[in-house]
Amino acid sequence: MPTLMRIGNHLLKNRLIVAPMAGVTDRPFRQLCKKLGAGMAVSEMVTSNSLLYGSAKTARRANHEGEVDPISVQIAGADPAMMAEAARHNVDRGAQIIDINMGCPAKKICNVMAGSALLQDETLVARILDAVVKAVPDVPVTLKIRTGWDREHRNALSILGIAENAGVQALAMHGRTRACAYTGDAEYDTIRVVKAAARIPIIANGDITTPEKAQFVLAYTGADAVMIGRAAQGRPWIFREIEHFLNTGTHLPQPEVSEIHAVLLEHIHDLHAFYGDVAGVRVARKHISWYTRGLVGSSAFRHTMNRLDSVSDQLNVVNEYFALAARADNRLRYENNDENNNTQDLSAASRLAA
Ligand SMILES: Cc1cc2nc3c(=O)[nH]c(=O)nc-3n(C[C@H](O)[C@H](O)[C@H](O)COP(=O)(O)O)c2cc1C
Repeated sequence: MPTLMRIGNHLLKNRLIVAPMAGVTDRPFRQLCKKLGAGMAVSEMVTSNSLLYGSAKTARRANHEGEVDPISVQIAGADPAMMAEAARHNVDRGAQIIDINMGCPAKKICNVMAGSALLQDETLVARILDAVVKAVPDVPVTLKIRTGWDREHRNALSILGIAENAGVQALAMHGRTRACAYTGDAEYDTIRVVKAAARIPIIANGDITTPEKAQFVLAYTGADAVMIGRAAQGRPWIFREIEHFLNTGTHLPQPEVSEIHAVLLEHIHDLHAFYGDVAGVRVARKHISWYTRGLVGSSAFRHTMNRLDSVSDQLNVVNEYFALAARADNRLRYENNDENNNTQDLSAASRLAA
């Protein structure tokens, strides 16, 4: 089983990668995941429509100030020339790896034949990959796909060949088709078949929620790395938990309340600074809810917290909640007493992305 993960000239510190998630993997979240154990974090997708480069949202997504290497930026679009231009634009702004989105199932994206809709048109896939790889010769290009458009058209193996011919340097695969959206369980057989045929590193993705599942998926598929999305929401320390388990076969204890309180405060401050106070409070609300999901006594706290609009009110209730939690136990305690509480209901998070 390979133990090192390399993308072009970037040797990752481990085989654990944060999945790109629009509205989630902004710079503050990526930085935090890297600090808490992830070997790499892919940015939210950035549009290839240059008309939007001036918009605050797109400019913020291309801001990598202070970000730890390697900086991977995902671009989305369906026009080869525009995608090439977007790759150059983001490399000029600090991207060290360009990731191409052919995995997103969102209607907004697929309706313009981008994201996973591209898997239906292999000629266009080849043209986009060629154009992007040629546009940024000094930067590795990676590709993220689903297993195919629908169960009758699982063409991941064919896409692998196209990607390798174009010079793509790693392939991330979500074990579902576009038609599956987020329903059912991710399957790893297609990833296993693709890995067996691949000359480039393969990253396995989909429904990895626990250290045991990460270990299983790495072993079953033979993949070089695993990519984790929804299970990292509100649990950015999942990466160190998985790494510890892969290295030792044992579980870390639940983190101390005081540590997670400090992690969350730093995260909230970063979000307020990154987005400004008004949007920052709104974005932070979502993360605070995720951090506290399942914790003892947390639903009343979230009910209150979700109604607050000011930076100071938000920080005050978070401080109050964690002070109470620390009095009850020095480690995080979940309602269901599940020691690791890693088995999450991913359906709510998925609805956001559909
Ligand atoms: C809120 C959300 C936003 C997402 N945005 C993107 C995106 O911008 N680009 C992309 O390639 N995939 C995106 N995805 C898909 C994830 O990268 C990942 O493939 C999927 O969630 C399955 O992994 P998981 O089971 O570990 O969550 C998104 C998923 C979610 C839940």
